[in-house]
Amino acid sequence: MKKLVSEFDISAEQIQDIAWKFLRAIESGLSGENSSLKMLRSFLRPPTGEETGKYLSLDFGGTNVRAALIELCGQSYLRQISYQAQLLADPVTGYDLGSPDVTAEELNAFLAGLIDDVLMISPEGVYGLGYTFSFPCQQLNLDQARLLCWAKGLQTKGVVDQDVGRLLQNALAKRNLQDRVKLKAILNDTVATLLSAKYRDKEVDIGSIIGTGHNTCYLEPLEPLHNEPMIINVEAGNFNGLTLNNYDLRLDHNSENPGEQCLEKMVSGKYIGELFRLIIFDRIEQGLLLNSRDKHFFAEPYSLRGEDLSALLADKTAELSEVAAWLGKYAVGINSTMLESRRILVEIAVLVGSRSARLVAATYLGILLHLDPLVDRKHVIAVDGSLYAKMPGYAAQVNSALKEILGSKAEKITIRANQGGSVVGAAIAAALG
Ligand code: BGC
Repeated sequence: MKKLVSEFDISAEQIQDIAWKFLRAIESGLSGENSSLKMLRSFLRPPTGEETGKYLSLDFGGTNVRAALIELCGQSYLRQISYQAQLLADPVTGYDLGSPDVTAEELNAFLAGLIDDVLMISPEGVYGLGYTFSFPCQQLNLDQARLLCWAKGLQTKGVVDQDVGRLLQNALAKRNLQDRVKLKAILNDTVATLLSAKYRDKEVDIGSIIGTGHNTCYLEPLEPLHNEPMIINVEAGNFNGLTLNNYDLRLDHNSENPGEQCLEKMVSGKYIGELFRLIIFDRIEQGLLLNSRDKHFFAEPYSLRGEDLSALLADKTAELSEVAAWLGKYAVGINSTMLESRRILVEIAVLVGSRSARLVAATYLGILLHLDPLVDRKHVIAVDGSLYAKMPGYAAQVNSALKEILGSKAEKITIRANQGGSVVGAAIAAALG
């Protein structure tokens, strides 16, 4: 275990070092120099909380797709009028709209269908639409966004390099919805999270997602190209100033996008389950864990997810009986394991989960140092995503990592869970459009 601990441990010194590298990558990216951080302009200013009206919102994140009609009532108040949600991959048939044999037309027909469902249960009228599209996009303006590359394993063909707004509008026109739905804004899910939190609280200046994927955005007080405040999508998941260990290298090598999304592959829900699986597989093979006949249960790539780590970390029983149940029933069909093996499984989950939280904290620190070098002001970081919300101890570890570096100044930083921001934020963006 010692070697494994040293490979996954992130010391306070490393946090500081990563934060500085992240800060430098932010500044190079902003000024158009070569950087692993794309620093994508959102063309969105912060909301005042006084925006009003009814807006459609579409949220396409990679696992779930949601559409809703939302009424912004002003004074930071809003309500949801109607709502529809579906999974991108059909759990019964296995048909996955993110797979490489699906076309852009098929994917967009599905998205337009979901909007149509919402309109059917909504009052008559013409609505502005905000479209949260949670992948790296070059915005040409607020309602035009070119997909730079897929992430989180999606591979639908005919979308990369295209304006995702136009693809959606074509699909809406095929359903004769062009007169009822007016696309106003396309935005990243981190941007939507920031907008929805800021609608209620002026101090929010950073938005982040720690779920299937990972990314962060922030409010740049004076965006250099436009000379005005603008939210910048950092595309933090692509940060590459990190030392990869053997498992990271293997995961990256076998992924659909080697060399890309380095940070995301070390921290987000889609990938930390896979890192965990690779470690377990190795240890069984080396005779250090479980029994060699159990190896094949861990042979399938991506068969474990962030949720599996969360389930193991939630077990507070002395005998680790929930870990035993996970092994026996939910995951892999192994019935009898020694307590020592179960402890090791939890220890490995702790290592992978803690590294994720500490790396994310280091990148938050990099953004904070860019915004406020002496950390003199108050900052609120709004965070959405299943890993942050559900992994036991995750939020506390992000906080304590910041405290290790900032000491009492960490009190100026509030990290707040902000669930559902991707849907609400799209409506706010439509109002700003
Ligand atoms: C995408 C980001 C997105 C993040 C969270 C990443 O894979 O590149 O655009 O914000 O996932 O959903």
